[in-house]
Amino acid sequence: MNELLRDLLALPPQASSFAREVDYLHYFVISVTMLGAAATGLTALMFVAKYRRRREELTVPVSAPRWLEITWIVGLLSLFCFWWVLGYRLYIEMQTPPADSIDVYVTAKQWMWKFAYPDGRRSIAVLTVPVNRPVRLTMTSRDVIHSFSVPAFRIKQDVVPGTYTTAWFEAVQTGSFQILCAEYCGVSHSNMWARVEVLSDEDYAAWLEGHEPTQKEDRVPITAAERPRDPHASQLQDRETTELEVPEPMDVRGRQVAVKYGCFGCHTVDGRRHIGPSFAGLFGREVEFSDGTKAVADAEYLTASMMDPREKIVAGFQPVMPSFQGQLSAADAAALVELIRSLADIERGGVFPGGGTQ
Ligand code: CUA
Repeated sequence: MNELLRDLLALPPQASSFAREVDYLHYFVISVTMLGAAATGLTALMFVAKYRRRREELTVPVSAPRWLEITWIVGLLSLFCFWWVLGYRLYIEMQTPPADSIDVYVTAKQWMWKFAYPDGRRSIAVLTVPVNRPVRLTMTSRDVIHSFSVPAFRIKQDVVPGTYTTAWFEAVQTGSFQILCAEYCGVSHSNMWARVEVLSDEDYAAWLEGHEPTQKEDRVPITAAERPRDPHASQLQDRETTELEVPEPMDVRGRQVAVKYGCFGCHTVDGRRHIGPSFAGLFGREVEFSDGTKAVADAEYLTASMMDPREKIVAGFQPVMPSFQGQLSAADAAALVELIRSLADIERGGVFPGGGTQ
């Protein structure tokens, strides 16, 4: 049944853990609306025949009994609520990356997708992930609004300049799947492709050690070299490499970024409080703000506080941090988050000698 409906609606393969559920919701919505439309049409035809004007008799007004109208309203409302609950459940699932997700940072720009992995690797136009493991994407754009879409995974998320959005997926089959930009972003929007390479555990382990994945026959063509007739081929030259150089891990780079921007002037890495909260033992912890609200210090919160530090002030600290909006590149901000993440297990406590404005 699933396969029949999927073919009928020309849907791509169901290659992620929630693809099937998304499709079931889709089938349900389509079937209900189709059945509703057919029933309405048939009823209309029946009424045309039944109540047609016969000779010169006067049309008699018809009224439905009250119970029938109430049943109608209650029935439609319940259907709507059922529909809403199904969609909401799935939405929450799709918005909540599992805690053990692998992190990948995505930067969109006209007109390409760039990926950065926590171990410091980077690639353009090819996202490499293992099968059956959740992957969380933290995404931003360098220019205009793009939208990260993998039809086979049924995910689509806007990627917005100046802020970070997240999406997650768990691929359930190996292979190569197309990544598309789903938001019109300029003349080469339709060329803004990339692909996800989903590798088996062994291939992924080999890839982690620096080997290129074995070239698959069925993979989605992406680079200019693979698409020689593309009229925009010259614009796509820089997509040809997947840049498998292995520079320093991202948290190490985060340390360099922190030095460059003077973060350590206010934030310690050993858990002692100074002018600002310590980076140590911060990641994943609940933070309380001066207005009494709380939030978990995750990648999204941390990047938001780099860009807009006065929006939320951690209780007990002064609003003295300047904004790094427009100064920190997306990659630098991601590196800082990785630095903070790498310090998550350090004990907090103590006051920095000579510091600590209360
Ligand atoms: Cu990027 Cu459309």
